[in-house]
Amino acid sequence: MNEDRLPSPRHHHTNNKKKTRFGYLSAPSSCSSLRPLPSPEILKVDGYDLKNQLDNFRVKTHCAKPLPPQLVHETILDRVYNATSPYDNFPPAHVRGLLRDKRLKGWGSYGEVFEHLIQKVKPKVIIEVGTFLGASALHMAELTRKLGLDSLILCIDDFRGWLGFRDLVGFVNMVNGDVLLLYQFMQNVVQNNATGSVLPIPFSSGSTLEILCEWGVFGDLIEIDAGHDFNSAWADINRAYRILRPGGVIFGHDYFTAADNRGVRRAVNLFAQMNGLKIQTDGQHWVIDSA
Ligand SMILES: C[S@@+](CC[C@H](N)C(=O)[O-])C[C@H]1O[C@@H](n2cnc3c(N)ncnc32)[C@H](O)[C@@H]1O
Repeated sequence: MNEDRLPSPRHHHTNNKKKTRFGYLSAPSSCSSLRPLPSPEILKVDGYDLKNQLDNFRVKTHCAKPLPPQLVHETILDRVYNATSPYDNFPPAHVRGLLRDKRLKGWGSYGEVFEHLIQKVKPKVIIEVGTFLGASALHMAELTRKLGLDSLILCIDDFRGWLGFRDLVGFVNMVNGDVLLLYQFMQNVVQNNATGSVLPIPFSSGSTLEILCEWGVFGDLIEIDAGHDFNSAWADINRAYRILRPGGVIFGHDYFTAADNRGVRRAVNLFAQMNGLKIQTDGQHWVIDSA
C-alpha cells in the first residue's frame, strides 16, 4: 500500500532505544536526554482554513489495478476460503439443529432504491458493507436474477451484530457465547438458492475494505449499512469509495431515519462536501453517483 502518513512521534525515539536480551526497549518518556520533537504540521492549525485542515483526513491510499469482474468470485474463494466454497457441506453438524430454515429481519432492506440502482448500474459486482441476516443482500440477488444479470454480491460483515441484538432477533442461537449469525445468514442464502451469487466475507469492514483495495477488488455498486455512528460510517464510506469502479454508485441506509443523529447523515454530507460530490436521496437512503 502506498499511504501517505504523517510522521508518528514514536518514530523519532530510535536513538534512545536500549538493547536487552528481549530486544530493544524504548527509553521512558520522562528521560531527560529526549530532544523536543519538531511540531508536526497537523498541529499548526492557526491560520489554516477549514479546507486545508480537512485535507489531513483525506485517505490517499491507491488501490491495485481493478481485477476484471469475472475474476472476482474466484479470487475471493481462493484468498478467503482456500479455494473451497464456504457452502460446501453446509451446515456443519454442530449447528444443524440450531438454525431456522429461513429467518430474515432487516431495516429498509426492500426499499425501491435497490431496484432503481440495479436497473441503472447493471452491476457485475455488488459489495454490501453490513449484511446481518441477508435481507437486503437476498433482495438484491432476486432483483439481479429477475433482470438476467450475472451479478456477484460480496457481503462484508463480521456477523457479530451488536451487543443486545438478540433482544430483537432471539431466533439467532448462541453456542458457547458465539452467536450463529453467519450460519443463519448462510442458511438463508441456501434456502434462496443464491449460493452461486452471494458470498460472505466474515471480517470487520475496516480490514476487509483495505484488503479488497490491495487485491484490486472493485464494486460497481456499493451499499454501506454497517456501523451507524459517525466514525464507523465515515471510515466505511471513505474506504469503500476507493474501491468503487469509476462510474459506479455508492449508497447507504439511514440518511432519513431515527439513526440520523448517530452520524450517518453527517458522515455522508462531509464526505460529499470534501470530494465535491452530489448527494441524492431515495426513500431512507442516500446515493452518490460517481458517473
Ligand atoms: C443494520 S445491519 C445490516 C442490515 C442489512 N443491510 C439489511 O438491510 O438486511 C448492520 C450489520 O453491520 C454489521 N457491522 C457493524 N459494524 C461492523 C464492522 N465494523 N465490521 C463488520 N460488520 C459490521 C453488524 O454485524 C450487522 O450485521
